[in-house]
Amino acid sequence: MLIKTKRSSELSENDVTDEKVYKERRKLLKGLGFAGASSLLVGSGLSLNSFADEDNSSFKTTSLEFAKTNAKQVTDKLTPEAKVISHNNFYEFGAKKDQPIEYAKNFKVDPWQLKISGEVDKPFTLDYDQLYTLFDLEERIYRLRCVEAWSMVIPWLGFRLADLIKKAQPNSNAKYVKFKTLYDPDQMPGQSNRYLGGGIHYPYVEGLRLDEAMNDLSFLSVGLYGKTLPPQNGAPIRLVTPWKYGFKSIKSIVEIELVTRKPKTTWNKLAPNEYGFYANVNPEVDHPRWSQASERRITSGGLFARNRIETQMFNGYGDDVAHLYKDMNLKRNY
Ligand code: MTE
Repeated sequence: MLIKTKRSSELSENDVTDEKVYKERRKLLKGLGFAGASSLLVGSGLSLNSFADEDNSSFKTTSLEFAKTNAKQVTDKLTPEAKVISHNNFYEFGAKKDQPIEYAKNFKVDPWQLKISGEVDKPFTLDYDQLYTLFDLEERIYRLRCVEAWSMVIPWLGFRLADLIKKAQPNSNAKYVKFKTLYDPDQMPGQSNRYLGGGIHYPYVEGLRLDEAMNDLSFLSVGLYGKTLPPQNGAPIRLVTPWKYGFKSIKSIVEIELVTRKPKTTWNKLAPNEYGFYANVNPEVDHPRWSQASERRITSGGLFARNRIETQMFNGYGDDVAHLYKDMNLKRNY
């Protein structure tokens, strides 16, 4: 984004194991028919936790039960878990890619409250446990394309944003959905230290048009790689909109508000000529400072791995979302 970031070459290469373990675990879970399988595995002594749990962090991820999705899945090779959880953009915990894993390691997410409010007939608030139990969790493998022109493929766990919104019963004034990240400078050092936090005005805010939010692809994630989200990836709950640049996928959400007017969103406010409200992945509309025609896919490969690929319109999800923008000029509404 605005800050110069470290290169992924500084990541550990000792990461393929996690992906292998994960695949083995999925086979096992399938064989065992899910129920009780995760606790059985934990009890068996098979290590499922990532290396993050082996360091001195007080944050622990736990296994989640989930079903395979009926939604269309991408077949791209997964980005190894170790890279997904160590190469992050989460400015509340530092603007450099390797800072969130360090600064977020003691982040406390329980108790948590997620409020659904605004132009709805039935506002409600979810507590920490309800995030995992209100809906059956499903796994969705999505591409994540950052506006900085790198990308990953991540197996998320969660539920459809539409299901949560429907439960609140939006009224006819609801036209947009506004999301807010936790504001807690005691826990999130980037919120009080301008240098660490990249000069952003906090709390981080994002928004979607209501029809975008109700699209089947819009997903609220509470986990990845079979476990609860690590803090650096947005614990306990974050948005994932895979056809949009990653900055729309707001982390550690405490408020989802149905509103009438288009909300003012964090990056759009900071640099409107660089980061649009829609932020749909579009190889034909360059960022003012770099091309968006291609991207560096973060894989298990090292520094010299050939991992530059062409960027696809809507990140390859056009069949699902192109109709949402059919009468719009996408060069103007970037
Ligand atoms: N949400 C908050 N609250 N703060 C952030 O700095 N960064 C965004 C998005 N969500 C960000 C955020 C950006 S720029 C990207 S690319 C994705 O999170 C990165 O998600 P990841 O770290 O899980 O890959």
